[in-house]
Amino acid sequence: MYRGAVLVSVAGLAQLASAGLYPGITTDNHTCALVDPVLSCSCKATPDKVADTCCTETYGGLLVATQIWNTFTGLESKGQIYPKNHWTIHGLWPDFCNGSYTQYCDLSRQYDPKPVPNTTDGTPHGTPVPPYTGEPIDKWFKPYGKLDLLAYMNKYWVSQYDPNWVFWAHEFSKHATCYSTFQTECYGPKATEHGDLFEFFETVIKFQRTLPTFKWLSKADIKPSNKTAYTLSKIQKALTKEFSLVPFLGCSGPRYNETEAGKGSKDNGRTVLSEVWYYYHVYGRPQEAQAKKLAADASGGSLSTCAKAKDAVWYYERSKGSEQ
Ligand SMILES: *[C@@H]1O[C@H](CO)[C@@H](O)[C@H](O)[C@H]1NC(C)=O
Ligand SMILES: *[C@@H]1O[C@H](CO)[C@@H](O)[C@H](O)[C@H]1NC(C)=O
Ligand SMILES: *[C@@H]1O[C@H](CO)[C@@H](O)[C@H](O)[C@H]1NC(C)=O
Ligand SMILES: *[C@@H]1O[C@H](CO)[C@@H](O)[C@H](O)[C@H]1NC(C)=O
Ligand SMILES: *[C@@H]1O[C@H](CO)[C@@H](O)[C@H](O)[C@H]1NC(C)=O
Repeated sequence: MYRGAVLVSVAGLAQLASAGLYPGITTDNHTCALVDPVLSCSCKATPDKVADTCCTETYGGLLVATQIWNTFTGLESKGQIYPKNHWTIHGLWPDFCNGSYTQYCDLSRQYDPKPVPNTTDGTPHGTPVPPYTGEPIDKWFKPYGKLDLLAYMNKYWVSQYDPNWVFWAHEFSKHATCYSTFQTECYGPKATEHGDLFEFFETVIKFQRTLPTFKWLSKADIKPSNKTAYTLSKIQKALTKEFSLVPFLGCSGPRYNETEAGKGSKDNGRTVLSEVWYYYHVYGRPQEAQAKKLAADASGGSLSTCAKAKDAVWYYERSKGSEQ
């Protein structure tokens, strides 16, 4: 019933009613000063049980801090390159407690020039998500004194093929609009424009800073190599040791049994390491980053799309000129 955006066009009310997730909440009293932090996805964390959906995540309570490993950006000539010795940010997703998710929950905050999917529920019958045609959102940081945030994002939240801001806008509009705690009304009657957007980006960074995947792998002698492939279980073990619970590992590229090395094998997992997803529940507002770690399979998700065979997974070195 709360899914999708509700756009109300009654003159004068448009501003108040524009946020899509929980229409009708007011802008007052969302500092959360009176509210003891409730753990998302606990039985107390439902919209009818909590005092304030701005103070407890009641919509997308299974947080997923996601990172990417790619070898090139495609925009090196424009100076868009990866930070050496770091995995880069993908996003911070508000999955439903059962591991499924929805997207583009508030079309009044649609800044994604290339919405994927192009309807809110991904079916042809869903509400269309119109492509954003406004100015690049990286123009918004300077007037708010946030060039340091922009600098961090340009360094650690790097897009492939598109300018970085397109990726950030995609992550914000597709995912962040599906948090009850980032709903516009939570920011008060005199909220600064884009305060929710900046705070989301800052929250993503809080999680990212606690997740040095590159370093964790290096400690176990798992370093990018174009000569030696690794075994999935060894990568899982290395990250589990540091994070304390097992994250999801995503692979792309050819299936193992379609490669020369895996010929005749029954293992059809993919062979190019490209994603790691760390799972959490969160106490109170995600903005405070008081998170409880979870194993990736705790909410029904799978642990990996990578091949499980010995030495089947490639953790490739980045291309020359694609990092600094
Ligand atoms: C919340 O805001 C309303 C409207 O401004 C005010 O009347 C009310 O006293 C406030 N409630 C609390 C608990 O502060
Ligand atoms: C998962 O939870 C969401 C939100 O409560 C619900 O809409 C959806 O139907 C659930 N999906 C499954 C497969 O149970
Ligand atoms: C969404 O994309 C599909 C496939 O490209 C296209 O056929 C469809 O018309 C698009 N729908 C909307 C609402 O843009
Ligand atoms: C790869 O493995 C899958 C699953 O075990 C199997 O169905 C498929 O036939 C295999 N493909 C090849 C080319 O061996
Ligand atoms: C390593 O291999 C990947 C995948 O083929 C390629 O994109 C990359 O440029 C290579 N890196 C180096 C330093 O050769």
